Amino acid sequence: MTEIPEHLLKRSKAAKSGKSGDGGGAESAAPAESSAPVAASAAAPAAAAPAANLPNLDPPAPPPKPVPAYVQAAQARKKIPVWVLPVIAALPIWALSFAGTMQQPESEDILLIDAELVYGSCAGCHGGNGGGGIGYAFSDGEILATFPEAIDHMAHTARGSDAIAGEAYGDPNRAGGGRISGERGLMPAQMASLSLIELELVVFHERAILGGEDTSSPGYQEWMEHMREEIETVGLDGPTITQEDMDLLLACANPEFTPGATGEGAPDGETCPGPRAEGGDEAAAG
Ligand code: HEC
Repeated sequence: MTEIPEHLLKRSKAAKSGKSGDGGGAESAAPAESSAPVAASAAAPAAAAPAANLPNLDPPAPPPKPVPAYVQAAQARKKIPVWVLPVIAALPIWALSFAGTMQQPESEDILLIDAELVYGSCAGCHGGNGGGGIGYAFSDGEILATFPEAIDHMAHTARGSDAIAGEAYGDPNRAGGGRISGERGLMPAQMASLSLIELELVVFHERAILGGEDTSSPGYQEWMEHMREEIETVGLDGPTITQEDMDLLLACANPEFTPGATGEGAPDGETCPGPRAEGGDEAAAG
């Protein structure tokens, strides 16, 4: 056996006597005595007696921990639906085809490019896609309902609304009722702003591109070809619309749709702007 050193034995003896001795006994008795009067005064004496003798040593059960908000959110959150998987799988294919469309120029036709360019000065009031704004909409056939023919559209644009304020213009039987000039505000006259070819281009843009007009007839194609030639030979920066130009527009326009129009047709040697009369002979327009 191993010999236990003397000083360690002494120490353990002292510890034993301390536990069972005066100091230890007094400490353990004290809580029992002090808790008795408190319990007796708080509750009925009969019930208090055993409770005082047998103090409940179990600590009160801790309240259940609240579930943190982020855990609750995670449990309540909807799971990703199954149909998302093929969508995610198809994304790269879509991205490739989308990138392909981005690289293609919208059009190489100088007519379409320049017509859109001139329309830039109207877009602020009529909307970039012709959906309307301060001014009327052109899209969804709206402009075609007001002006079944391009020539009346051109005359109205060049002259503006102030010159015929209060007068009816356009198709009086148009859906939603005929137009009264100035009823919606001021359409600024374009005579001092546009050349005749610019007027043709912008009206073409509003009708064919924004308004969805059918351009397939030979007379329409002839007009489009004429505008391409004008762009290439004269360009857009010609003189602005003159009084003679305005007279030509009014001679060609329909008196039913354009106040002040004569409907005489173009004088000899001149051509009414807009889609050419069918048959190819400009004289047939009159
Ligand atoms: C400052 C704003 C403004 C600008 C710029 C403008 N317009 Fe207008 N436009 C109007 C307003 C307002 C009306 C309605 C006027 C009225 O009540 O008579 C209108 C009416 C019209 C109409 C008649 C449409 C219909 O269905 O009755 C045509 C066509 C038109 N504008 C063409 C043009 C063109 C082409 C340009 C560009 C060259 C242009 N506008 C630029 C404000 C504008």
